[in-house]
Amino acid sequence: MTAASPQTIFDVSAPGRRSSTIPEAGVGPAPAGAIPERLRRRTPPRLPEVSELDLVRHYTRLSQRNWAIDVGPYPLGSCTMKYNPKVNEETAALPGFRNLHPWQPESQVQGALRLLWETERILVELTGMAKVTFQPAAGAQGEMTGLLMMRAFHAAAGDPRSVVLIPDSAHGTNPASVALAGFKVRQIPSDERGLVDLAALEAALDGQVAGLMLTNPNTLGLFERDIEKIAAAVHAVGGLLYFDGANLNAILGKVRPGDMGFDIVHINTHKTFTTPHGGGGPGAGPVAVTERLARFLPAPVVGYDEGEGRWFWDTDRPDSIGRMHGFHGNFGVLVRAYTYLRSIGGEGLVKVAERAVLNANYLRKRIEDAYPMAHPGWCMHEFVATARRYRAQGVRAMDIAKRLIDLGYHPPTVYFPLVVEEAMMAEPTETESRESLDGLADALLQIAGEASSDPDLLHRAPVTTPVGRLDEARAARRLHVRWEPGAPWLSE
Ligand SMILES: Cc1ncc(COP(=O)(O)O)c(C=O)c1O
Repeated sequence: MTAASPQTIFDVSAPGRRSSTIPEAGVGPAPAGAIPERLRRRTPPRLPEVSELDLVRHYTRLSQRNWAIDVGPYPLGSCTMKYNPKVNEETAALPGFRNLHPWQPESQVQGALRLLWETERILVELTGMAKVTFQPAAGAQGEMTGLLMMRAFHAAAGDPRSVVLIPDSAHGTNPASVALAGFKVRQIPSDERGLVDLAALEAALDGQVAGLMLTNPNTLGLFERDIEKIAAAVHAVGGLLYFDGANLNAILGKVRPGDMGFDIVHINTHKTFTTPHGGGGPGAGPVAVTERLARFLPAPVVGYDEGEGRWFWDTDRPDSIGRMHGFHGNFGVLVRAYTYLRSIGGEGLVKVAERAVLNANYLRKRIEDAYPMAHPGWCMHEFVATARRYRAQGVRAMDIAKRLIDLGYHPPTVYFPLVVEEAMMAEPTETESRESLDGLADALLQIAGEASSDPDLLHRAPVTTPVGRLDEARAARRLHVRWEPGAPWLSE
């Protein structure tokens, strides 16, 4: 550690140093007994003693240790790390939105209700569904909400069912949500095209199947071309189709889940409709459903009284599955999504999908000789390549990912989907320019060369970051987030 690179704010602390001083209040000490004896501190708190400049430098330094889309390309597959326009932040910070309280009467929050209503109209149009809940706080919670509605639907028909089908390429949240909603998972294998194996699907369909969860394009970045046959087969046994909307970016304004036969759709607004996200939030996972499922939506939903020209919370929903969130969901995220949707417009959304697919294919084409695709040919908004061939040199997808960090790029997703060996899943998004895609492709090609010429360089990477490779299992299981002087783990 040097003075130029202190590890923590305690390293720059010096006794008696302050960033500001507060004049004596002149009201004397607290009256005796005001704070019960057992609650009084015995020792002063261990706080760093620093000047204002030390403090500013500390936080600036910390902010520079993070990676963000505002710093450079972030091609993390399945996560849609696109640029988040700054105007979204400005609208979300408008006092009329920022200072609202969810307990304010409807008459005082007509603007906010209208914003939700108009966002709902747009989502209904984009998904081909009938009605939306804004309560879920993320895609995963949207999944749970949708599956609980699936359950309620079958129960109301007097036909409770126990199984949900999921393709083997699915995101891990899908089976987790299925289990949480009280169903059993039945896995459907992918065929040699990387698509749902139709014969295996048909063999798995019976009267116990509540529904099928699918994302289209799927997590291999491929469009499920048999979707109409899949939908017809699932509906024929009385099942429902759930659309995991994490990949909606690829099809915006091109094709609608409702037209493909889906009954329930969650939308990751923080991905598709731009909110800074990562590390678990903040998010919003609205769920849209067809008319026959609308009565099960979490209550309340937004209503509009045309006669009176007023928006209201529709609480009179006896078949609702109940609440999924305190109050009405992450409203600030929805203001950002609405701003994005209105500023980019219908035609803009179509271009988003087209350019997201174009960018992914451009990157794919530039690197595929060095990193063969798991499923060759055109991809949608993302692709899954494999680093399998470098295993002979002792180089793994993880080494390539870490070396990319040294070259100034966030790595693609690695080791997902699980069905592809040494998977590298890249989603460049529509917001990257051709120059930045070329920079990323050049870096990946350079690393492919290094894998043969100097594999150890890749094993040592990253060397430009504050910490090198972590023992990820240990970091997760023995997480220390609080600094303590002389803590043994500091020197471990
Ligand atoms: C395909 C897919 N489904 C679901 C999710 C879960 O979404 P969220 O992170 O918003 O909970 C993700 C997240 O990356 C995803 O990629």
